Amino acid sequence: MTPAQPAPLRKAVVPAAGMGTRFLPATKATPKEMLPVVDKPAIQYVVEEAVSAGLTDILMITGRNKRALEDHFDRNQELERILQDKGDQDRLRKVRATNDLAALHYVRQGEPKGLGHAVLCAAPHVGDEPFAVLLGDDLIDPRDPLLARMAEVQRDHGGSVIALMEVDPAQIHLYGCAEVALTKDADVVEVTSLVEKPQPGQAPSNLAVIGRYVLSPAVFDALRDTPPGRGGEIQLTDALERLLATGDEPIHAVVFKGRRYDTGDRGDYLRAIVRLACEREDLGADFRTWLHQYVTQSLPHSP
Ligand code: G1P
Repeated sequence: MTPAQPAPLRKAVVPAAGMGTRFLPATKATPKEMLPVVDKPAIQYVVEEAVSAGLTDILMITGRNKRALEDHFDRNQELERILQDKGDQDRLRKVRATNDLAALHYVRQGEPKGLGHAVLCAAPHVGDEPFAVLLGDDLIDPRDPLLARMAEVQRDHGGSVIALMEVDPAQIHLYGCAEVALTKDADVVEVTSLVEKPQPGQAPSNLAVIGRYVLSPAVFDALRDTPPGRGGEIQLTDALERLLATGDEPIHAVVFKGRRYDTGDRGDYLRAIVRLACEREDLGADFRTWLHQYVTQSLPHSP
């Protein structure tokens, strides 16, 4: 008998229940996932990334005030009709682009009990198969396909796969942090322990967990057993550390060296927009010229 093929990765979970308090008042009535990065809402980049990695079923974990997310990925027949009547094919194409990207599903988290709790809300939908988790604050440049590589590593090694990135040691307290051992693949390490947002000076490395995961369904049991951790919330990192401690399944990590844009706080969000706008084929040339002039002529020179 040939061994059973591992289940292919089909499902993605996108936690999107956060209140977005760092972006108030913009997020008072608008989900932070809908804030535009150039001219597309952040959530659309994330869904497009999942789709290009071959995922066909996407579950968003939402909450109050998140109706706009569902509307964005649904048809808007009135708008389509108006654009059609005007013969504006270009905008019609943009409006239609989000209609049928994937099978989208929504579940509400109800209480803000943390990222781990949000992922646990996906358990009935995911069932007994590996699944991806994509956090909307991290945008990964489509030219540096991370998720497809993680899926490949998960197929080869089983268990779960996370994504790590080297950060300035002064920043590691903002992230989950991993202790690792090398493998024969230069971009893959085996995770030996994890800690969520270590105290300054106590981090085991400068390898930060970034917001892409390919998880074994065993993480759901680990999450059920995980007590609240940092910030009084149920942390996904703590559940993964629990899973490691059982020794039942490995956790590997892809060490990402590509382009990642953080949209999680206002400064990073602005930097992401400027970088992406500079690189856009349709906007980039004019915008770069303006930006150069602005920086060299309008801003006071630093001493
Ligand atoms: C979450 C995770 C953390 C990870 C980070 C990546 O933290 O808990 O382990 O490093 O995402 O963006 P958050 O930024 O939501 O506080």
